Amino acid sequence: MPSSAVDRHESHPSDMSAGATTPIVIRDVSKTFRVDGRVVQALHQISMQAESQEFVTLIGPSGCGKSTLLDLICGLMTPDAGEILLHGDADAPRLGRIGYMPQRDLLLPWRSVMDNLLLGPEVMGQDMAAARQEARELLPLFGLEGFEDYYPATLSGGMRQRAALMRTFLCKQEIVLLDEPFGALDALTRRSMRRWLLDVWARFRQTLIFVTHDVDEAIFLGDRVVVLSARPGTVILDVPVELPRPRDEAMVSLPEFAALRRDLLSALGL
Ligand SMILES: Nc1ncnc2c1ncn2[C@@H]1O[C@H](COP(=O)(O)OP(=O)(O)OP(=O)(O)O)[C@@H](O)[C@H]1O
Ligand SMILES: [Mg+2]
Repeated sequence: MPSSAVDRHESHPSDMSAGATTPIVIRDVSKTFRVDGRVVQALHQISMQAESQEFVTLIGPSGCGKSTLLDLICGLMTPDAGEILLHGDADAPRLGRIGYMPQRDLLLPWRSVMDNLLLGPEVMGQDMAAARQEARELLPLFGLEGFEDYYPATLSGGMRQRAALMRTFLCKQEIVLLDEPFGALDALTRRSMRRWLLDVWARFRQTLIFVTHDVDEAIFLGDRVVVLSARPGTVILDVPVELPRPRDEAMVSLPEFAALRRDLLSALGL
């Protein structure tokens, strides 16, 4: 576990004593949508934060505003109220400075795996030969070696997700938001993808905010779990996961795991 995350666990999650070293601080953020005269309040006074190199998992019922929150964090939308601080600065531009894998993988069907992977470096005007070389070297870690010339439609679901994740990681942002990256996968693939994601994170060590519907996944992966209520989403629980790293599947049968699962399920009203 990153030392900053350990430090974090010693303070109360909602104390907003974060300084400029805290990558993301969300303070009292609300968001309402108005479409054709209909009003939907998606988020209500959300406050949470993500420390440097921390793996934060975000869980909540469908429609409670999780994807909206990620859109707000990365600057695709602006909140109606409240503020989002990037390293302590509420005015810092965030768009393009935060890695984001949206809920749908959004691989471009007309581009090969490699050309999809190189989208970030291309948009950012980086040295393409160096980016291609780096992508080649990372293909085995993402289980895509030999598939770089394939098109998305010819990949399995797990491979598409890994390609989309690899594209997100190749953008080299210090903060990465992942919106249910394993949502569409079967239980078996999902289990192996979890393990694999922890290996990738151990290598890249970004600050991660990971959305999931799966309580066990939230605990297994996270340094901390944030639970949102049903819409309008608001934080109803923000708890550290006191399990050592590296994590392994056997931990799901530990009493600490079971106790945390009970707390999360009860917060979710399940
Ligand atoms: N661009 C938009 N315009 C209008 N309403 C929107 C928009 N985006 C989201 N909403 C509404 O905001 C609410 C929250 O949606 P959001 O996609 O954030 O939920 P979610 O928690 O990610 O759900 P899921 O778990 O199903 O992905 C929903 O009622 C949705 O209809
Ligand atoms: Mg969503």
